[in-house]
Amino acid sequence: MKTIIIVGGSKGIGKAIVTNLLAHCNVINISRNAPDISHDNLTHHHCDVTKDELPEIEAADGLVYCPGSINLKPISRLSIDDFKDDFEINVLGAVKVIQKYLPILKNGTKPSIVLFSTVAAKLGMPYHASVAVSKSGVEGLVKSLGAELAPTLRINTIAPTVTDTELASKLLRNEKMIDNITERHPLKKFLSPKEVADMAEFLLSDSCASISGQIFEMDCGIVSFKI
Ligand SMILES: NC(=O)c1ccc[n+]([C@@H]2O[C@H](COP(=O)([O-])OP(=O)(O)OC[C@H]3O[C@@H](n4cnc5c(N)ncnc54)[C@H](OP(=O)(O)O)[C@@H]3O)[C@@H](O)[C@H]2O)c1
Repeated sequence: MKTIIIVGGSKGIGKAIVTNLLAHCNVINISRNAPDISHDNLTHHHCDVTKDELPEIEAADGLVYCPGSINLKPISRLSIDDFKDDFEINVLGAVKVIQKYLPILKNGTKPSIVLFSTVAAKLGMPYHASVAVSKSGVEGLVKSLGAELAPTLRINTIAPTVTDTELASKLLRNEKMIDNITERHPLKKFLSPKEVADMAEFLLSDSCASISGQIFEMDCGIVSFKI
């Protein structure tokens, strides 16, 4: 049975990934709050990745880094600290976790890392400057590490559009906003955490052994199509 480290499995997309994996993997979750799931295959470590020392883990075959931000403001209201905070949680947190667990992952079975970007790294949208900068950093990290760690370890990123989680709750706070978001996407939908988790599970799996250094737009058409 594979062992997968999930950073940020207490809620949102990370929790959906934990739920998917528990049937066939040992899951080690790292987050500030414990997931409200109890399962023999699940271990939780309380940790703030930006501040605390990461827990010692003996062995792992996969790593998913979920913490991220949606900090939408016009450039006139984005402070330098906003940019630094977004970079810290999206990029430096992922770098810290990868550096810590790389030695054990390299000893794992067909190891794989999954990170998260956003459609806003490819699609120019007003008020997304800070998150677009940080997630473009995540995409650069995936390209560079994909090359550096081949053939031992694969690394990919998922770039989702709006996904129904606490992080996106401000964008989906009433029926009108939900209808607007739905209508803006050519596929006339946005994402559920489970759909994104299914893609992460595939990227972790041996079925994906030929794929590394890629950015998967789960965009419901918003980046890909102009209809
Ligand atoms: N939701 C969307 O619409 C959307 C769209 C595009 C991209 N994304 C990206 O997809 C990823 C997952 O998003 P999500 O919506 O599932 O986010 P979420 O609901 O906010 O969940 C984030 C997870 O990360 C953990 N976390 C956050 N800060 C942490 C810290 N400092 N230390 C340790 N754990 C921390 C949270 O747990 P605790 O609070 O318990 O620590 C939680 O389990 C993010 O990178 C996000 O940028 C999301």
